[in-house]
Amino acid sequence: MSYAELFSLAGRTALVTGASRGLGRAIAEGLAAHGASVVCAARTAADLEAVTAGIRAAGGRAQAVVMDLADRAALPAAARAAEACFGPVDILVNNAGVNFREPVAAVSADHLDRILAVNLEGLFVLTQEISRGMVARRRGKIINLGSITTGFGLSQLAVYSATKGALGSLGRSLAAELGRHNVHVNTLCPGFVLTPLTHKLWSLPHMQAWGRQRIPLGRTGVPEDVVGAAVFLASRASDYVTGQALYVDGGFSTAEPWPIPEHGGNAAPPGEIKGDGLA
Ligand SMILES: NC(=O)c1ccc[n+]([C@@H]2O[C@H](COP(=O)([O-])OP(=O)(O)OC[C@H]3O[C@@H](n4cnc5c(N)ncnc54)[C@H](OP(=O)(O)O)[C@@H]3O)[C@@H](O)[C@H]2O)c1
Repeated sequence: MSYAELFSLAGRTALVTGASRGLGRAIAEGLAAHGASVVCAARTAADLEAVTAGIRAAGGRAQAVVMDLADRAALPAAARAAEACFGPVDILVNNAGVNFREPVAAVSADHLDRILAVNLEGLFVLTQEISRGMVARRRGKIINLGSITTGFGLSQLAVYSATKGALGSLGRSLAAELGRHNVHVNTLCPGFVLTPLTHKLWSLPHMQAWGRQRIPLGRTGVPEDVVGAAVFLASRASDYVTGQALYVDGGFSTAEPWPIPEHGGNAAPPGEIKGDGLA
């Protein structure tokens, strides 16, 4: 293999859940552009057809499979339907997820159940179904969509955070278990990305102003921002990477541009600083 082919997905089959819009759509389109045959899954057939038609119009290979991750009993059959499209799945992108932002005291039993069912339980069962074949064929890339909350706390996201933190743990344990079978498991953690899930919140002027100030790269993300990392984790370029959480968040979770004055707050210019040097 030449280095030029490191990111090629030619001959690979991918299953992307939640591929009908937002991040999943961009990831499905990105994997297809790199040569993968992509099965796009979600609940809404018409939206999926629009995405797969777009991929095919661009010269890629894609098919739609209707799948409800909250319906655990139906997932084995849904997994078989996905594998009937282009053959065994080499790349599983567990992207579908739901969220309800609310204070912990306001979380209803319904919201608790729905977030756990889609973000964690359904994802787990689908991963079980697909990973069996990966282990048997000794080839697989599993990419779970985490979040900033995989490793960082944000208010009014208690249940969602619990599921996204769990995906970090799941990824590390599956990496330990499946590595010997040449199955890689990583967690892709986007920051604040404008999608139908988040658009309303980030339309608020004070949220935009906070994002510009707090995110080191000075902006919220767009779905295309996560595609490169997804292609990397799906391709041979990441063949020695497993169990990791890769943050694609403009630097939010690891750095903060603090409001320090020019020249560190010292009156003297650099080189003549007489301060105590405290950080
Ligand atoms: N946007 C962000 O800023 C951000 C940041 C960090 C992490 N994430 C994560 O990235 C993933 C995608 O987020 P997004 O912003 O792209 O969300 P989105 O725009 O709301 O899209 C969600 C996708 O999941 C599908 N879906 C929802 N419930 C489903 C179910 N029960 N079964 C199967 N598919 C289902 C939706 O299609 P149907 O409704 O037709 O089923 C849709 O395709 C999520 O896991 C989210 O937690 C997002």
